[in-house]
Amino acid sequence: MAPNTPHRRWQIRHADCLTALPKLDPASVDALITDPPYGISFNGMGWDRPAKLDPARVPGRRRRPNTNPIEAFQEFSRQWSSACLHGLKPGAHLAAFAAPRTAHRLACGLEEAGFELRDVLMWIQGQGYPATRVLPGGWGTGLKPAYEPIILARKPLDGTLDHNLSAHGTGAMNIDACRVEPSPQDCPGEGRTHTRSFAASERGRWPANLLLSHGRRCTSSRCERDCPIELLGERHRFFYAAKAPRREREAGCEQLPRRVVQTFKIGAKSEQQALARPVANIHPTVKPIELMRWLVRLLTPPGGLVLDPFAGSGSTGAAAILEGARFLGIEREAGYVPIARARIAHWSRVSSGRREARA
Ligand SMILES: C[S@@+](CC[C@H](N)C(=O)[O-])C[C@H]1O[C@@H](n2cnc3c(N)ncnc32)[C@H](O)[C@@H]1O
Repeated sequence: MAPNTPHRRWQIRHADCLTALPKLDPASVDALITDPPYGISFNGMGWDRPAKLDPARVPGRRRRPNTNPIEAFQEFSRQWSSACLHGLKPGAHLAAFAAPRTAHRLACGLEEAGFELRDVLMWIQGQGYPATRVLPGGWGTGLKPAYEPIILARKPLDGTLDHNLSAHGTGAMNIDACRVEPSPQDCPGEGRTHTRSFAASERGRWPANLLLSHGRRCTSSRCERDCPIELLGERHRFFYAAKAPRREREAGCEQLPRRVVQTFKIGAKSEQQALARPVANIHPTVKPIELMRWLVRLLTPPGGLVLDPFAGSGSTGAAAILEGARFLGIEREAGYVPIARARIAHWSRVSSGRREARA
């Protein structure tokens, strides 16, 4: 394998991606799937603050005067995506999560870097908390965030699509691997079925650019009242993935130290719960592995290399390994690196165990 691509099936590099990405082997990556900073100072996290993201900022110095934070975010998005362009195969897809209010700047940054915008997927999770001030008289300053856009882009093709596919194996999406199955078990709640509307294709529905997640308290037999899948009714029409439950976030981290974290400060009860249940995976924005697996399946040729320059606690890596792909993750914050490694190692063992059981 070329020197800068992972020698093992997966690797997490502890580095700033703006420094590490230019060292990627040319045209070695099959798909880039990432959850980058949103530039909204999520939960007070320094790594999500637009001013801190300004790539022209000198570390240790105050923010340059007159830096418009949203322009700094767009410039950051342009810089990291430019830095990885040479490492991607022609026609390789890029999927990047975003916040509704900064997604346009991420999209512009990607376009300025040379990517072609292909679509905007919408992941409806319905579970966000409104980061708003509650004002007298029932007024506030924001809505409850119920969805996240996912910008889908592609590195320009090398010639025609057919040439690109035969020369590089990239450029198209694996539609059949992501079709939505008509399984009644996938449809908790009232037990409605939609076999008639499904009859269009025996192989399942063509995957849509709308993805749904169940509510936190949904069970296999019943959906909670605010569950997006319950609310949208037609439960078999779209792919859905549960939000990452605690056991999924923590799996593999049993040997790591535990800490009390409270992602959302929403009252005494949630504070008590956080105190009573310290966690090893302290990352505040863990993506569900099932959702990331769907993206890996859709965008990665079999056995291909998936890159995540903002690996966090390693959800993309776990998904890539479970889908039989290879993975290279980059993460700058030292505290998240062992968590990502422990989680991916865990899912790697699970995946090998499943292969052995099948053999
Ligand atoms: C939204 S989080 C990703 C969370 C991840 N999807 C998960 O499930 O755990 C973004 C991550 O990017 C990291 N990050 C921010 N700037 C970075 C940079 N310049 N280089 C590498 N990582 C960076 C942050 O530390 C953070 O962990």
